[in-house]
Amino acid sequence: MNEAKQNMKLGVNIDHIATIREARRTYEPDPVFAAYLAELAGADCITVHLREDRRHIRDRDVILLRQTVQTRLNLEMARAEDVIEVALKITPDHATLVPERREEVTTEGGLDVAGAGSELKDLVERLKEGGTSVSMFIDPDPRQIDASKQAAADAIEIHTGRYANAEGPAARQDALDEIRKSAAHARSLGLTVLAGHGLTYRNVRPIVEIPEIGELNIGHTIISRAAFVGIERAVREMKELLKR
Ligand code: PXP
Repeated sequence: MNEAKQNMKLGVNIDHIATIREARRTYEPDPVFAAYLAELAGADCITVHLREDRRHIRDRDVILLRQTVQTRLNLEMARAEDVIEVALKITPDHATLVPERREEVTTEGGLDVAGAGSELKDLVERLKEGGTSVSMFIDPDPRQIDASKQAAADAIEIHTGRYANAEGPAARQDALDEIRKSAAHARSLGLTVLAGHGLTYRNVRPIVEIPEIGELNIGHTIISRAAFVGIERAVREMKELLKR
């Protein structure tokens, strides 16, 4: 099958709906309603990050989303015992293993799968036993891709932060080449390839042109646009950009 002819799928990260709610520690806006509207507008997956400090998404959200999401639910999670407990209880469709530091504003780098040892593989296996497919959020680095395969991951999500933050065309092209090579390498190992972080309406197109990448997880830019035009239109506009 020609992968290039399939439209890129869109996972919509709704964490920042919860960020607005937590600004007042109230009940609105509710990420569960946001997920419903995003799905009606064409989201292929709903992504949330249950952080250790519960700064935006809360356990209640994940439990309700598991019951209401009609597409697929992707839970981003660090290797923290109480978060693992939630994941094993609700068995999301996908889990994306991410690094997490309390002081960071958002996930700053990829997970060091190569340096993690066998505990990571044990976690992957426990999640997979419950029917959850597991992805590793990693930098576009062949060592991390090989280690993800060895850790029995089903997929990798390539961290596109360096590309998104690149200053100038040469640096951007360099970052793009690295992503392209990594995507091809991961596919050759049989891994499903996703990408995300820092992607926007302005910078997403060159990533869409990489045929080995099947799905993107995008949050901040969609929720930002939703503040002005509503989440349904914001999702629809992004879906348009993901056409191949
Ligand atoms: N993928 C992962 C693993 C992430 O941690 C994030 C940020 O929560 C995203 C994708 C989405 O990034 P952004 O909000 O910059 O679109």
